[in-house]
Amino acid sequence: MCGIVGYIGSQAINSIMLDGLKELEYRGYDSAGIAVMQDEGIRSFKAVGKLENLRNKVAEYEPEGFGVGIGHTRWATHGKPTELNAHPHNLTHSYVVHNGIIENYQEIKSSLTTECISQTDSEVIVHLFEAKLEQLDDPWLAFQKMIHELHGAFAILLITEKLPGTVFFAKKGSPLQISLAETGCYFGSSDAPMLEHCQESLYLEDGHMGYASENEISLVDWQGKTVEPVFKAMASSRFSAQKEGYRFFIEKEIYEQSQILTESLMGRLDDNQIKLEELEPEWLLKYTSITICACGTSYHAAMVASYLLERLAKIPVNITIASEFRYREPILDSNCLFVVISQSGETADTLEVLKVVKQQGMSVLALCNVDNSSIVRESDVSILLRAGIEKSVASTKAFSAQVMALWLLATYWGQLRKTLSSKRLSQEIQAMRQAHQAVTVPAEMHERIHRLSKRCLHGHGFFFIGRDIFYPLALEGALKLKEISYLHAEGYPAGEMKHGPIALADAELFTIALMGKTLLYDKIKSNVEELSARDATIIAITSETFALADDIIQIKGQEHPMLEFFEMLIAVQLLAMEVAIRLGHDVDMPRNLAKSVTVE
Ligand code: F6R
Repeated sequence: MCGIVGYIGSQAINSIMLDGLKELEYRGYDSAGIAVMQDEGIRSFKAVGKLENLRNKVAEYEPEGFGVGIGHTRWATHGKPTELNAHPHNLTHSYVVHNGIIENYQEIKSSLTTECISQTDSEVIVHLFEAKLEQLDDPWLAFQKMIHELHGAFAILLITEKLPGTVFFAKKGSPLQISLAETGCYFGSSDAPMLEHCQESLYLEDGHMGYASENEISLVDWQGKTVEPVFKAMASSRFSAQKEGYRFFIEKEIYEQSQILTESLMGRLDDNQIKLEELEPEWLLKYTSITICACGTSYHAAMVASYLLERLAKIPVNITIASEFRYREPILDSNCLFVVISQSGETADTLEVLKVVKQQGMSVLALCNVDNSSIVRESDVSILLRAGIEKSVASTKAFSAQVMALWLLATYWGQLRKTLSSKRLSQEIQAMRQAHQAVTVPAEMHERIHRLSKRCLHGHGFFFIGRDIFYPLALEGALKLKEISYLHAEGYPAGEMKHGPIALADAELFTIALMGKTLLYDKIKSNVEELSARDATIIAITSETFALADDIIQIKGQEHPMLEFFEMLIAVQLLAMEVAIRLGHDVDMPRNLAKSVTVE
């Protein structure tokens, strides 16, 4: 995800900014930039790729004395990772850096008299600010008016030659903090870039905005009421700052899923329709079937999609594992849309399939988390997952972002093909809007899973079972557990157990039953009863009471299957993590695995 730094003071401003951005590298980025304001005006530098490229560009400019700076590392979500799209964005007098997504940027763009030159949503901020400034001739008033017109999520720093020595800031939905030290005023999107200079920080709350000088902060809430800044102690070390308070990256990423699902919907939902601006309606409508190809966790997302696409868009779906597809001499149909899914965008098996399919004249849509990746470059069209960098080798947040993107795709296609009634469409949209709550980890659930995990350290194996969309979730739960705990686990369709695997059932066999009440509850209940009758140890994940379970991980329960899916997803992810921690494994870097599998 993007990162922000800022500084007001008389220390070596370039080093503070560039070193600060370096501390944010762990969040992932594909371009970076800074803007520095001194008496003679504002200078800005941007570069694509590593921070070294930016450092080289800035090398010949060494500002001395007092200055104001803002800086940014960008993870592309709207527009390619190019210099033009990198932040800071500017207009005549002002520069801005922004994290988050401006949902109504198209609307703002069309109301402007000035022309935006980048493909980003962020650039409209500085244009709108200058338009307000022109009308009001008061930078603080203009800033407040501008902020009130933005919909979406943002952490914003803005500087303008009209008010030297000042940084304007605002926060809604994306983190932003400010610290005052003897050496000046520091800004950051997390503790990491500030730790070297300050001990405590003002963590802005949603709706807070204001302006700061070298040694003073003026802060107001959304209603314009003055707020007294309250400073709190920051993380104790750089390493813990990067984990943002969590013990492991995987834990941070599991908890981040709520924010990611919110961001993945931004600009893509209206009250009663889906907007996927990446996909031209005429282009999508010409396809009469779909093949989805991926590996590992991404393949599980494809499996979920196979249920959703058939149900919502009434379109025939074929899903396939990349390493298998390549060598099966597939028969391709040009009326079939070929989709590849990949977190990294570099997985060799998936990339090779993509090349083979392209050579045969097929169009390919990629769902990917990394904009400048090989898979995005080779594909005709791509939908970016907006999950930010995933540090933990075992994928968690990228999976939920994939599932959300596929749910959007299926609903959008259904909307275009008119296979959904308006009632059903609005039910799906309403459920999508609640998804971020469903993946919010309840403290009591985490505690329960932590306690329960000590019972799962032995035994001769785990079966994760589910039906319908909870079957691919069972596969994903089993994959997570085996990857990081090194215990044997299998995912199975619950109804299939009686066709063989039930022979394994005894007290040492753990069955994790994904018993969503919204889909085939009675069916899975009898499948679990069959296992219980053979003395298997049952851990049920459910919102219902189920007397035959040895243990229950209680979920709140939802009316929509996808919301139950997301609730159960965090339960299986946490279970895998807690078991692996108890076994003393490196949960972020499990043995024998690599984050990006670039070999066949
Ligand atoms: C599991 C995991 C892997 C990847 C697989 C595909 O936690 O991370 O199974 O899902 O290697 O990787 P991508 O999605 O990068 O193509």
